Amino acid sequence: MSVDAAALQREIDELAEISSHPAPAVTRVLFSDEDLQARAWLKEKFEAAGLAMREDAVGNIFARWTGTEPDLPAVATGSHTDAIPHAGKYDGVVGVLGGLEAVRALQRESFQPRRSLEIIMFTAEEPTRFGLGCLGSRLLAGTLDLEEVSKLRDPEGRSLEDLRAKAKCRGELESVRLAAGHFHAFVELHIEQGPILEREGLDIGVVEKIAAPAAFRVCIAGEGGHAGAVLMPGRRDAGLAASEIALAVENAALHSGSPDTVGTTGVFHIEPGAINSVPARAMIEIDLRDTNLATRNQAEAAIRDAVADIAARRKVDAAIEVINSDPPAICAPEIVETASAAAAARGWSVSRMVSRAYHDSLFMASICPTAMIFIPCRGGWSHRPDEFSSVEAIEKGVRVLADSLRSLAA
Ligand code: GLV
Ligand code: MN
Ligand code: MN
Repeated sequence: MSVDAAALQREIDELAEISSHPAPAVTRVLFSDEDLQARAWLKEKFEAAGLAMREDAVGNIFARWTGTEPDLPAVATGSHTDAIPHAGKYDGVVGVLGGLEAVRALQRESFQPRRSLEIIMFTAEEPTRFGLGCLGSRLLAGTLDLEEVSKLRDPEGRSLEDLRAKAKCRGELESVRLAAGHFHAFVELHIEQGPILEREGLDIGVVEKIAAPAAFRVCIAGEGGHAGAVLMPGRRDAGLAASEIALAVENAALHSGSPDTVGTTGVFHIEPGAINSVPARAMIEIDLRDTNLATRNQAEAAIRDAVADIAARRKVDAAIEVINSDPPAICAPEIVETASAAAAARGWSVSRMVSRAYHDSLFMASICPTAMIFIPCRGGWSHRPDEFSSVEAIEKGVRVLADSLRSLAA
């Protein structure tokens, strides 16, 4: 099989240039001008490979290589091309462009798929605009309440409807949902975003389980005032309450009883945001994950107790909103086996693993048998500009993906 790793690397580099922050950072937020430009660029690549395209009402793009039995449920691969602020160029992109290269490699060897093969570019895997990750795959899997979706607002107050109009997405959101059985299988290629493969000198990871993510927003209302004039006793500082809650999140994750619980307060806004004004309001967003739902729930309960205590002690109002609370996904053993066997057949070292990051696969797993192929990335770094996977590692991932797609579509 001829994988053109050099061409794939050139495409990864080219796509990275479409960014709202300068290189080496990559930023492509859902339906920003850069995201729209990247989508147009990608569609040209799909077209050049002779793939038939469909775009659904939320902008998920499906590029199909029609099989000899086109009525059979297709085999799909893919990932996302949106990028959080100051990200790198590999997260998601390796799965989309690597998926395309896997298909092109199979075309070059004159393989005739029996089942159609589809590459999916999922809309907004990253939560940057609306605070909710995997928007496209959640809608595909039908796990979102459309009433709730209509209430989503970005920091500028724009709704998904406004942005869908900007992006010229046609159709009703109801139509995005796919029936269970629509796809025969889904396999996503991704950089590990963790240190294990590199540290242990392994070529390939095959994901058996994806950790359960949850996210919360806490809005705090205290009382503002002049930083010089309001004396310390009796202050109702919303910023300090938010800071204490962030520390409580760390504490809850550290003491959940599971080493796999992780808690992060990555969004922190205070108002009015002036050096000489006591913060009157605060908004923080908390990301909480675990491979085990019971210990994650335990950490959530500890955070809720801490929020109540801190709010009472500091005499502020604190309202907690659940942004999402998802169970873990268990990958399909038969696809895990297919991908592991593909790696082993090429003589590469392979390990079964857990994905601590979430992916569109988390939701695809609820509508079809799903697994993921991981490749090493330097230092395990991701969501930062120096994210890096070598072209050799990417090539191996693409070969394992292509071999897996070949056997799933045959
Ligand atoms: C995906 O980007 C995640 O935050 O796990
Ligand atoms: Mn990401
Ligand atoms: Mn990703």
